[in-house]
Amino acid sequence: MAEKEFKKRILCIGAGYVGGPTMAMIAQKCPQYEITIVDINAARIDAWQTDDLPIYEPGLLEVVKLVRGKNLFFSTDIDSNIKKADIIFVSVNTPTKTYGEGEGKAADLQFWEKTARSIMNASESDKIIIEKSTLPVRTAYAMERILNVNTKGIHFDILSNPEFLAEGSAIKDLENPDRVLIGSRETASGIKARNEVVDIYANWIPRNKILTSNLWSAELSKLVANAFLAQRISSINSISALCEKTEANISEVSNAIGTDSRIGNKFLNASVGFGGSCFKKDILNLVYICESYGLHEVARYWESVVKINSYQEKRFVKNMITLMFNTVSGKNVALFGFAFKANTGDTRESPAIYVARHLINEHAKLTITDPKAIGNAKEELKPYLKEDISSVQFTENPYEAAKDAHAIAILTEWNEYRDLDYKKIFELMEKPAFIFDGRDILDHEKLFKIGFNVSAIGKPLMKHF
Ligand code: NAD
Ligand code: UGA
Repeated sequence: MAEKEFKKRILCIGAGYVGGPTMAMIAQKCPQYEITIVDINAARIDAWQTDDLPIYEPGLLEVVKLVRGKNLFFSTDIDSNIKKADIIFVSVNTPTKTYGEGEGKAADLQFWEKTARSIMNASESDKIIIEKSTLPVRTAYAMERILNVNTKGIHFDILSNPEFLAEGSAIKDLENPDRVLIGSRETASGIKARNEVVDIYANWIPRNKILTSNLWSAELSKLVANAFLAQRISSINSISALCEKTEANISEVSNAIGTDSRIGNKFLNASVGFGGSCFKKDILNLVYICESYGLHEVARYWESVVKINSYQEKRFVKNMITLMFNTVSGKNVALFGFAFKANTGDTRESPAIYVARHLINEHAKLTITDPKAIGNAKEELKPYLKEDISSVQFTENPYEAAKDAHAIAILTEWNEYRDLDYKKIFELMEKPAFIFDGRDILDHEKLFKIGFNVSAIGKPLMKHF
C-alpha cells in the first residue's frame, strides 16, 4: 500500500505482552492506520515476524497473521520510525527499582525516560505521546518537562492510556474491554489530542465505554485498579487460612459472599497466591508514592495486600512439608503448572517460583510440568539451581511428572489438570500419595476416595492416616 493511503502513522515502542497484542488489535480494527512496533530487543522483533510469536496468548497469532505486512510492521529502527510517527504509544517495561532511592518499591523509570529522550532527539514534527506502560501518578509531568524543552519548536501532547488487559485473555479483553481510559491535560491542545485517540478506539468500542479524564486520574486509576483486584485475592486468601482452621470451606464462603451483587463474584478464587509481572510491582509503587506524600497509614494498608500474598505462598509450602511428615528431603515432588495463571507461558512473579525454590532448599527432587511455561520456568530457576540442575526435571507430560512422586502440587489452574486420569496417577505414585491443590480446581472427594491425602487451599484436610 502506498504510504499516503494511511490516515495516520502510529508507532508503539515496546513489543512485549502489552505492545504486541494491543497494536495487533488496533491494526485489525483500524486498517486506515499504519502501525509499527519497535523494540531494542532484536530477537523479540524477529520472533513477531514468524508464527512462533515471542509470547503465548490465545487467539493472538490469528490476529497478527491478518494484519502483519498489511498495516502492522515490526522493526528495530527506532529513530526513523519515531520521525515518521504522528502518534506514539510507549509500552516499555516499568519494573520495580532494584537499586538506590526507592529500591524494592518505586518504579524503575530508566526505560521510560530513555524512550522519552529518543523521542525528543529523533522527532522533527509535533506528536502525541501516549503512556501505555503503567506509571506512577504524575509521570506525565516529568515527561512533559523532558520533551517540551526541545529547541526544535516541536510540541508534544502527553496522554495516559493505561492498559487493563489480563494475560491469557488479552485478545478478548482488547476486543471487548470493560472500558478504555484516556487521560489528558484539559487544555485545547490536550483535548484535541485526546479526541484523536478516542477516534482510534471508537472504531470498535462503544463511545460510552471510552472514558476520558485528567492525566493524573488516568495514571492513578491504573495503579488503583490493580491494587483493588489484588486486594480481593489477598482478602479471600486470608480467609482461606481461617477456613483451614475451622472446617469452613472457602469455595462455599466465596460463593456465599460473591452472590451479594455489591461484592460480586469475580476475583474471589482462593489460591497459592497471585503472581504476574504487575500486581506486586504496582502495589509497591502505590505504597512508595503514598509514603513520598507522607501518607504512611495509606501505604501500610496497601502494603498488607502484598504481605498477605507472600504469607499465603509460605503457608502453602510449610503445610506441604508438615503433612509430609516434616521432611521432603530426597522426596519426589511434582509441580503441576509453573505459569502464574492458566493460558499463558508467563512465569513472572509466579507463586510456583517461591514454592519450587523453597522445596529445592529443603532438598526435594522436583519434576515440573506445564503445557506452555517450561522454557520460562527453566530461566526462572537457573539462578537457584547453581550447578545442581539435575535436582529439577521438566516435562510437558503430567503423567511422567507424577511417576514415583510422593506428592503433587497444583500451582496453575490449567484446565487440562481437571480432567487427568487421577486413578492412573495414583498408581504411578509413591504411597502415601499427597495432592496439594493450590488452585482448588480438583474434585477433592473423588481424589480422597481414590486413596490420595488431599490438602486444598481453604478446605478441610482429607487424610487417610
Ligand atoms: P515486557 O517486558 O513484555 O515488554 C516491554 C518491552 O519494552 C521489552 O520487549 C523491552 O525490550 C522493550 N523496551 C525497553 N526499553 C526500550 C527502549 N528504550 N526502546 C524500545 N524498546 C524498549 O513488558 P509488558 O508486560 O508488555 O509491560 C509493559 C508495561 O505495560 C508495563 O508498564 C506493565 O506494567 C504494563 N502492563 C502490563 C500488562 C501485562 O499483562 N503484562 C498489562 C497491563 C499493563
Ligand atoms: C492483571 C489485571 O487483571 C489486569 O487488568 C491488568 O491489566 C494486569 O494485571 C496488569 O496490569 O498487568 P494479569 O496479571 O495478567 O492481569 O492476570 P490476572 O487474571 O489478574 O491474575 C493475576 C494473578 O492473580 C494470577 O496469578 C491469578 O492466578 C491470580 N488470581 C486471580 C487468583 O489467585 N484468584 C483470583 O480470583 C483471580
